[in-house]
Amino acid sequence: MEPTQAGQVVVIGSGLIGRSWAMVFAGGGFRVKLYDIVQQQITSALEYISKEMKELENSGMLKGTLSAEKQFSLISGCTDLKTAVEGAMFIQECTPEKLELKKKIFGQLDLIVNNDVILSSSTSTLLPTKLFTGLKHVKQCIVSHPVNPPYYVPLVELVPHPETEPSTVDKTHALMKKIGQSPVRLTKEIDGFVLNRLQYAVISEAWRLVGEGVISPADLDLVMSDGLGMRYAFIGPLETMHLNAEGMTNYCERYREGMIHVLKTFGPVPDFSGEIEQQISRAMSEKTPADPEHLNARRAWRDECLMGLAKLKKQMKSN
Ligand code: NAI
Repeated sequence: MEPTQAGQVVVIGSGLIGRSWAMVFAGGGFRVKLYDIVQQQITSALEYISKEMKELENSGMLKGTLSAEKQFSLISGCTDLKTAVEGAMFIQECTPEKLELKKKIFGQLDLIVNNDVILSSSTSTLLPTKLFTGLKHVKQCIVSHPVNPPYYVPLVELVPHPETEPSTVDKTHALMKKIGQSPVRLTKEIDGFVLNRLQYAVISEAWRLVGEGVISPADLDLVMSDGLGMRYAFIGPLETMHLNAEGMTNYCERYREGMIHVLKTFGPVPDFSGEIEQQISRAMSEKTPADPEHLNARRAWRDECLMGLAKLKKQMKSN
């Protein structure tokens, strides 16, 4: 059987995020070249992917329409960059979060790619102007920031460089949709992109509330997991406003003053260190000791929950 999609994708770096991208692209029916400078990394990534795909198939959570065996056969490893990118239509870079390393890799790619391929980075913090400025193929460059683990959490933030062609953004958006991810477009770069800006706003208020003794760390987490988070898995904060009154205008009329009053009581940016850090660390470690065995077990449980939630979201959408 032929792959369902024409075109080949290259994933550069076969670590945590690279192997997950490889699975997502293969799930969408694309042939994937997994490139790394460390052969052992590729070998262990392929072993991991093969095992994961079989488990996902057994639990009914494998993405796409192809069997695990077929999807796995679409992925091949490669340690030569030039060979890897030959005939590629999309390149997803997933190397460690180091500016100089990523600049070097995009510089190398710039010399060997054609004018059609899209050069995309998984970076979670580096701005496109830092990564891509000066490249000959800057029009084809974009940040596609996934959320860990991308296989279960589909959001991808698309962040263009000021010189990125609109068609690069459109094509990346279409590709992400095709492989079952949920892309969002940022019109310009901003520190933290959007996801981390929202996340840090929540983290900093959580830190202040615990620091001021208003609530315990365990109860703070419950406010999110058994409160806000329940609906945020289905509707965002803006739609929440719209639904929590007779529409957005009515919400603002009712709650504008109250929101501004509360927001003005927010404290300064925490330093995330010292006594409060120790207090929160102790509380978190009571539940999950910070050693690899306990952390990995809890991560596996989290991923299982996310898988169940992904299933539920799929069901709810089709209703
Ligand atoms: P990782 O450390 O697990 O994997 C990096 C891989 O890159 C390794 O396999 C390494 O051998 C390889 N590598 C190193 N130098 C290379 C080179 N010159 N050419 C090719 N491969 C090379 O890192 P991880 O966690 O997968 O992160 C990758 C990127 O994804 C980073 O930019 C990170 O910010 C971003 N990201 C990470 C998330 C996370 O939760 N881990 C979430 C979203 C984005």
